[in-house]
Amino acid sequence: MKSKTLYILFFFSVLQLFSCKEKETDLLAFNSEVLKSETLSTDQKVSMLLDRMTLEEKIGQMNQYNGFWDFTGPEPKGGEAAQKMDNLKKGWVGSMLNVTGVKDVRAVQKIAVEESRLGIPLIIGFDVIHGYKTISPIPIAEAASWDLEAIKNSAQVAALEASAAGINWTFAPMVDISRDARWGRVMEGAGEDPYLGSKIAIARVEGFQGTDLSSPSTIAACAKHFAAYGFAEAGRDYNTADVGTSTLNNIILPPFKAAKDAGVKTFMNSFNDLNGIPATGDTYLQRTVLKEKWNFDGFVVSDWGSIAEMIAHGYAKDGNHAAELAVNAGSDMDMESHLYVNELASLVKQGKVDEALIHDAAGRILKVKFELGLFDDPYKYCDEAREASVIGSQSNLDEVLDVAKKSIVLLKNQSNLLPLSKKGKKIAVIGALASDKTSPLGNWRLAAENNSAVSLLEGLKAYSKNTITYAKGADVVTGKTEFVSELTINTTDTSGFNEAILTAKNADVVIMALGEHGLQSGEGRSRANIGLPGVQQQLLEAVYAVNKNIILVLSNGRPLTITWAAQHIPTILEGWHLGTQSGNALAQVIYGDYNPSGKLPMTFPRSVGQVPLYYNFKNTGRPTIPGSDLVFWTHYTDEENTPLYPFGFGLSYTTFSYENLTVLNTYTKNKEVTVTVKVTNTGKTKGKETAQLYLRDMYASVTRPVRELKGFKQFMLQPGESKKITFTLTDKELGFFNNQEQWVIEKGAFEVFVGGDSATKNKAEFAL
Ligand code: NOJ
Repeated sequence: MKSKTLYILFFFSVLQLFSCKEKETDLLAFNSEVLKSETLSTDQKVSMLLDRMTLEEKIGQMNQYNGFWDFTGPEPKGGEAAQKMDNLKKGWVGSMLNVTGVKDVRAVQKIAVEESRLGIPLIIGFDVIHGYKTISPIPIAEAASWDLEAIKNSAQVAALEASAAGINWTFAPMVDISRDARWGRVMEGAGEDPYLGSKIAIARVEGFQGTDLSSPSTIAACAKHFAAYGFAEAGRDYNTADVGTSTLNNIILPPFKAAKDAGVKTFMNSFNDLNGIPATGDTYLQRTVLKEKWNFDGFVVSDWGSIAEMIAHGYAKDGNHAAELAVNAGSDMDMESHLYVNELASLVKQGKVDEALIHDAAGRILKVKFELGLFDDPYKYCDEAREASVIGSQSNLDEVLDVAKKSIVLLKNQSNLLPLSKKGKKIAVIGALASDKTSPLGNWRLAAENNSAVSLLEGLKAYSKNTITYAKGADVVTGKTEFVSELTINTTDTSGFNEAILTAKNADVVIMALGEHGLQSGEGRSRANIGLPGVQQQLLEAVYAVNKNIILVLSNGRPLTITWAAQHIPTILEGWHLGTQSGNALAQVIYGDYNPSGKLPMTFPRSVGQVPLYYNFKNTGRPTIPGSDLVFWTHYTDEENTPLYPFGFGLSYTTFSYENLTVLNTYTKNKEVTVTVKVTNTGKTKGKETAQLYLRDMYASVTRPVRELKGFKQFMLQPGESKKITFTLTDKELGFFNNQEQWVIEKGAFEVFVGGDSATKNKAEFAL
């Protein structure tokens, strides 16, 4: 230990000995000597600060209030504002969420820093999920890019803007794996696969947090929702999850572990009950797995009100009991249940909660504040000039355009209707979503202005000299878009059909913009029917009857059952909700300035009855016999087993071939299996391909999926160009968690598949 450190430690322990009650001057000295010291380690500072804190002040750090203005959960009852203000002044608030903009952040920070006894700064949290004001594609769309660099850049832009608006903590990335397209929050994740999900989790954490958390342009990230929130039964948000050991360890937990290994500073637990225990009160998840097994040293925040919700779950008797259960289980911070601040002190005094747990939780929270540099300068994120210059800058717009075009997936391009020529065409554009400048912003875009996205129509006009005529045809939903609850009401109004039909009749090509409004997926937006909402299917069929040259541009936050369209419509582009630059990105793809390269991160079912439908399923004892007329095998009598579009699927304006799949098995020598394949661009256009490697462990002590993604490589090929692609499989790819939760690599036969999607037939074999 350096001598200056020793001196500081000595000085303050003597001070403590002689003064039980803190004097103003001691505090000032403490703040400048200790909290800003360059020689003490963060852990030493945390511990010295904790030593000076009362029980109530430590509990205060564990209390997170919503700000005074906006809400992202049920609105609290009146009269709470005064109590919040009072607690802020007492230093009984550790964090606030939904306070944005330098002016407001400075205002609340000033109270915490200048009016509370110890002046501990607040950590300011916000749902910066896909951008702050410059909006990126929704996360599932970005996942379709499979482009980790672009995804990381997009998170970096979000951090840049959010930090310039006073925010220093985002509640992202959501790393929940989900296999159920009915669940509205699939829009917020990376899809169904744990391997891809883990890689994307890392990219997002690195993008938000950067390499230096104390920089004013990076923010702390939060891996959520721990755990199994995406396995809500029947895809109904907040519903129960019942998941076995194998699925939990092999499918659900890996992206969380990847986020932890990437250094994510916080975790958020989840609303759901998992195997009978609400996740917020789950000791196994939060203490045994996260804090002990994984050695996570950040903190866990509850979800909005999830501590109090344990009463409704039937797990806690009352608020007092809920607080006891949550803190004992390892939830460090209470988001908006107000139970820690109101109940924990008495629970400690009654001996129901060990004070050491409070000490530990408050210490974890303080540590992140130190790492963010908030003790050096609590106003470091409060720079008006930076706020004005960074938010909405051209470079941010360029970055989100880049990831937006990479997120688009070409699902069908029969007779190469796409790309369209930039002149000499009469184009009819039909569908309310074509002119909508709010819907493309998607769901989590709390700080973005309505009407701030480039619409498809604007993009199509800006990028070409074609004659473009627009007819709405039909709305998607009734009501005004500001009123979120009305958005679930699909319109039944078909009065615009005639105009749309007339417009289509006179056109060479029809571009139909159909799908979900941006607020129809997301939290609380589960759907039991996942076709085109409202009268859009009828509109599509009516237009098809007069002009079959249709390019269907989909907007949606989840896989949709577009089976009729897949059979009839010649060209389909999956356009998700692409953010601020949506129309420009779509136009670049439609006119061929960018050759589409996206691949689906989630299986598209043929009908909702197949859901949950995912590529890495188990074989069953009676596997698929294609074309069989037998009865007793795993199938439906009224639907196929296969998806409409498989995981990993996406076309390009060129084509790729895969040849010479070869396995070099050196496992016994160096524990490695090397797989090579030759990929050739067999078309006439330069294009980007994502080669995907899937593995099948043919028999094991726990049954294994028929395929599992274990590697992917992205590369650009010129027409006619070939490339040898190499994958290396190690114990990390070859093993799995058995039901005793051990990572095992078992001897035996494997199949390996490499191709452009999860249904590829290019196969080789090897044995360990
Ligand atoms: C509830 C959501 O589940 C969570 O993801 C979000 O971060 C919080 N609300 C705060 O808005």
